[in-house]
Amino acid sequence: MKKISLLLILSVAVCSTWAQNGTGSVNIIPLPVKVSVNNGTYPFANTGVKSSGFTNTPLNLVSFAEQMLQNNTAANAQNASFNTSGQLLLQLDKNFNLPAEGYRLSVNGSGIHITGKTERGIFYGLQTLAQLLAENAGNQALPFVEIEDYPRFAYRGLHLDVGRHYFPVSFLKTYIDLLAQYKLNTFHWHLTEDQGWRIEIKKYPKLTSVGAYRAQTLIGSNRDKQPKYDGTRYGGFYTQDEVKEVVAYAASKYVTVIPEIEMPGHSMAALSAYPELACGDNPGPFKAAERWGVFPDVYCAGKESTFKFLEDVLDEVLPLFPSEYIHIGGDECPKTRWKTCPYCQKRIKKLHLKDEHELQSYFIQRIEKYLNKKGKHIIGWDEILEGGLAPNATVMSWRGIKGGIAAAQQNHNVIMTPGSHLYIDHPESSSPEEPLTIGGRLVSLETLYSYNPVPAELTPDQQKYILGVQANLWTEYVETPEKALYLLLPRLYALSEVAWTPLQSKNWTDFSQKRLPEFLAKLDRTDLLYRVPTPIGAKDTTITGSSFTLDYKAPVKGAKIYYTINGYIPYSMDYLYEKPVTINVPAGEERVIKSVVITPSGKRSVVTTTVVRNGTVTSAR
Ligand code: ACM
Ligand code: ZN
Repeated sequence: MKKISLLLILSVAVCSTWAQNGTGSVNIIPLPVKVSVNNGTYPFANTGVKSSGFTNTPLNLVSFAEQMLQNNTAANAQNASFNTSGQLLLQLDKNFNLPAEGYRLSVNGSGIHITGKTERGIFYGLQTLAQLLAENAGNQALPFVEIEDYPRFAYRGLHLDVGRHYFPVSFLKTYIDLLAQYKLNTFHWHLTEDQGWRIEIKKYPKLTSVGAYRAQTLIGSNRDKQPKYDGTRYGGFYTQDEVKEVVAYAASKYVTVIPEIEMPGHSMAALSAYPELACGDNPGPFKAAERWGVFPDVYCAGKESTFKFLEDVLDEVLPLFPSEYIHIGGDECPKTRWKTCPYCQKRIKKLHLKDEHELQSYFIQRIEKYLNKKGKHIIGWDEILEGGLAPNATVMSWRGIKGGIAAAQQNHNVIMTPGSHLYIDHPESSSPEEPLTIGGRLVSLETLYSYNPVPAELTPDQQKYILGVQANLWTEYVETPEKALYLLLPRLYALSEVAWTPLQSKNWTDFSQKRLPEFLAKLDRTDLLYRVPTPIGAKDTTITGSSFTLDYKAPVKGAKIYYTINGYIPYSMDYLYEKPVTINVPAGEERVIKSVVITPSGKRSVVTTTVVRNGTVTSAR
């Protein structure tokens, strides 16, 4: 894919704005805590950037702001002298009365003023300003506005699995840009998997020379009865220098990178390099997995050499990541091998453990102790509850919300990532035109948007343990950066509002029908691939009736909706939807109504099919 920076996305010239009350347009995602639009506009061309309250001039923030102003300034305004007096003031104020990540953004006759208690808060103020500038670039003037804003949750994450498929550093930067643009603050980097080990560890070079490569990859679905493979070696890894580059880049966008080093399961790639770490005597040989799923061969929990290896690996990982948290996985670890391994059984006996679940708990607690001593905290998937939670662990609840509830009830911190709402590797609709995905429950934009990370089952005191929320992008079926973008956009926008916006301000209609169409129109002018939503109001469904009224809205500003009523796939030569239309269905017949969105750049949505039946249908189509 083309390398495209955040600034480039924001710089795309907006050719028109859609004035509201004659003051300009204020559409922001995620919706801020408070917005009031006042009468008047501030022409922003040639606005200088100043900072105050910083001990050192915040070069990163100032140049970010300067570039953002410049990118949205029309060529013919570059030399205009009408506004040399106005300024953009970035003001750090330690006594500022909003939370640490909060900011106040004022636009008035004297210019633009962003105040924050922290640099991060000011950065988020600038991200909001970036959206306002892009939206009002056509008028070259910002509406007078007062915004007060801060996040609902401290942890706002997005995950990427680089084990099943490898993604280049350039794409990781795009991904981080997108996170930051939507005020997420954590990138969970899933670095080790059965299908590939992706981080250079100097003490164990075979982890990457062997473990970063698989002989071939499944094509098609894991569910296929007769699996087919591509016969092509696949792999790649990040050198420690590249890891540092990604972490530094993320830090410049106020994004923390949390590495995940999986244990004790999902470790086939590591075992392919160092088979002696598996159970029993002379185990292996093993291969990095070529298909998806859960594999029985895992790190031996009985051998001391396993812990020596993992501690050595962590010793190289820790200095690369300033993050307080290290994710140690813990999910989907079959106990099959442990049950028959003399080393594992010996440890169970010696420590009077009840079963293999307690052995897993021993494993995680031992690693936690090691990491706590180094000043780090662990995060694990909700399986780490089984057999007893490590004393200081944070639980990532993925198999629904039960694990999160149980952990909060035990006074442990929780990050909510339930598959039902936040697994963006799941399909978005039931259309047969959706790309191949892992399947499972549909996670539509609306499903994701509707998610509330704070379960009603928890008391107010327990609710405080919900640190926040994260969406996960597993990549078994995500072979390219473009497909990752298809799955991410626009669900990222919904996630940002789940993570940031006060619950009582969330509003699906305002989000999906007012703000999202504007944002998607901007996105449509970039090179970033995204999933074009289907027409607002169209549903994949079968209903009964003698007539049906199509009442649709375009999900992307400026997009067109085409439809057919004879079951054929609609193209731009078919009926153009302009206003509500009623389709009559004679008795004993059905009408198969198909609709599609075509955006200004020519991107298509998947087709939505609504079947309307009038009585018992005797004829086909
Ligand atoms: C997971 O999805 N296996 C955490
Ligand atoms: Zn063992």
